[in-house]
Amino acid sequence: MSQDQPTVLVTGGAGYIGSHAVLALQQAGYTPIVLDNLVYGHRELVDEVLKVELIEGDTNDRALLDRLFAGRPIDAVMHFAAYAYVGESVTTPDKYYRNNVVGTLTLLEAMKDAGIDKFVFSSTCATYGIPETIPIPEDHPQNPINPYGMTKLMVEHILSDFDRAYHLRSVRFRYFNAAGAHPDGLLGEDHDPETHLIPLTLFAALGKRHSISIFGTDYPTPDGTCVRDYIHVLDLADAHVLGLKYLWQGGKTEVFNLGNGSGFSVREVIDTAREVTGREIKAVECDRRPGDPPSLVGTAEKARQILGWTPQHSELREIIAHAWRWHQKRHGKSLIIDN
Ligand SMILES: NC(=O)c1ccc[n+]([C@@H]2O[C@H](COP(=O)([O-])OP(=O)(O)OC[C@H]3O[C@@H](n4cnc5c(N)ncnc54)[C@H](O)[C@@H]3O)[C@@H](O)[C@H]2O)c1
Repeated sequence: MSQDQPTVLVTGGAGYIGSHAVLALQQAGYTPIVLDNLVYGHRELVDEVLKVELIEGDTNDRALLDRLFAGRPIDAVMHFAAYAYVGESVTTPDKYYRNNVVGTLTLLEAMKDAGIDKFVFSSTCATYGIPETIPIPEDHPQNPINPYGMTKLMVEHILSDFDRAYHLRSVRFRYFNAAGAHPDGLLGEDHDPETHLIPLTLFAALGKRHSISIFGTDYPTPDGTCVRDYIHVLDLADAHVLGLKYLWQGGKTEVFNLGNGSGFSVREVIDTAREVTGREIKAVECDRRPGDPPSLVGTAEKARQILGWTPQHSELREIIAHAWRWHQKRHGKSLIIDN
């Protein structure tokens, strides 16, 4: 450890999950530094809310990384920076392989040369592809069905090889659907374009959209709509701090699912959003989308047992209430109908 307060480089720390992790790191006594190219990140969240150092730069910029690692002691890296639009990854796979795989490899090479040996990585349940069993355990086969999932799986393999060859230890977290926001409305989800169900439903509540689409009502699920596992972003952030502590205590390279363990259907999400917001939310039933599995729910028992992780915000109502507070604050005044 280089100093009293270990320094952690957080790539993608101006984004949704990364910004919550920065706050959790601060609260746990670490000094986070954010590296973000601001393609999707928000400078004002880092400067005005988190008040930590922001380096505007790209993980593909090896010279910048070398200067950064030579200029100050950095003890570990948390790597959130990536592109994460599944559809776009199908139409422009080169963009995804370059950013998510080459960018991560560049970062890992710079870490190796600088002697930084602890890495926490944002992987995804999209590496599993179509599930064979529900809930999905970590040893479930990984057969991603889109380039986005493949980029994350490739990095997982790179990490195993870097551990074997260079003793660079890592924790890989396979998240299910990140959701919710900081309860005080300080931080939250602000993707543009937005593709996730909960914020889109809340946009309909705010009048930013006419309606929310339900893709498929004839799935083999209790109410016929797709079931997904929503995990509160604060619980994700806590898991990252525990993952870092685990590596600090000499823990070996490991992979953990991070999910709620219980799924919620599209209809349940929309109904709960109606209750929480007290507003009309028009839902439009549409055909199934290709590639959507009926159910995606993970088991996170391993993270509970090995890391001592205990999610604190598992109720769908609470997840949506926190997201609603954030979206009202962030978007409440702009009533742009763009559906
Ligand atoms: N949101 C989810 O539900 C979810 C689920 C599974 C996995 N993930 C993964 O979690 C991570 C964070 O997701 P998020 O929802 O916070 O996304 P986000 O887009 O809000 O955050 C990503 C941040 O990384 C930055 N970035 C992208 N490429 C960069 C690069 N080459 N160099 C520097 N900065 C770069 C962006 O500007 C952005 O601020 C991603 O790796 C994503 O694949 C997210």
